[in-house]
Amino acid sequence: MPGLLGIADLDRTEIEAILARAKDFQPLQNQSFKRLDVLRGKLMVNLFFEASTRTRISFEIAAKRLGADAVQISAAGSSVSKGESLVDTLNTLGAMRPDAIVMRHAASGAPHFLARHLPIPIINAGDGTHEHPTQALLDARTILDRVGTLEGLRVAIIGDIAHSRVARSNILLLSKFGAEIVLCGPAPLCPPTMAKIAGGVSIAHDIREAIRDVDVIMMLRVQLERQNERPFPAGEYFRFYGLRLDHIALAKPDVIVMHPGPINRGRELTSEVADSQRSVILNQVENGIAVRMAVLERIIGE
Ligand code: NCD
Repeated sequence: MPGLLGIADLDRTEIEAILARAKDFQPLQNQSFKRLDVLRGKLMVNLFFEASTRTRISFEIAAKRLGADAVQISAAGSSVSKGESLVDTLNTLGAMRPDAIVMRHAASGAPHFLARHLPIPIINAGDGTHEHPTQALLDARTILDRVGTLEGLRVAIIGDIAHSRVARSNILLLSKFGAEIVLCGPAPLCPPTMAKIAGGVSIAHDIREAIRDVDVIMMLRVQLERQNERPFPAGEYFRFYGLRLDHIALAKPDVIVMHPGPINRGRELTSEVADSQRSVILNQVENGIAVRMAVLERIIGE
């Protein structure tokens, strides 16, 4: 694989291969010795221009578990804050000869620009409102573990769909497996254009309607940092779109509740839901490592 810019570039077979390989890596998390040698001598650079806890650390752990070295660059502590242009930062990084660059940037398409510019595999760790492919892959691994299949699922995605690269990558991935997806959120955050990303996607503005008989509920954070104006009053949001335990009863009995994190308790969902048996939020975090190991091995392994 030349790099990973988006789920849009992967076919079902490739997705299935990554998810199967991630399963091989899962047991490693519980062993006392957690290091393999597959990527010994390789160098992965994490280049993050936006805040991140889970994704950045998860890539670093994944690289180290495979025996690679991992170096962190955050825009705040780098020469980017001294006015260096993106192209100059990239050329500088390229000269250090990393084997892969993992990049997060506020601009949609930034990693694609980087990939055209440098002869080094680029992994997109989130570009603006566009894609977050490893998040969709780790979500798919989590669904497989708990629901047992990706075929023909009913999935509700609730929240700030318009600004969510997580929603977009998940829609692209799940629709490849024939999912029926209902998007739900306040009208300004859930515009009709989002239903056109793939087949099998519809929109509901009532959370109860969206959740009815679904296998998976995927909650999203309201991404205030991507909104120029507040499209609705903060208190109103939870009243209409916050997930509560009584909502869950409307879904399938074995429904799972997902959230890419960071979660805002009392805004997107109640603590009772976040900490309930139905929540797989920490399983998602755990699977992030195994899935990123599979991706890194596929891209920079021999
Ligand atoms: C998401 C992101 O940054 O796209 N978080 C993550 O990677 N787990 C979602 C978010 O910030 O709301």
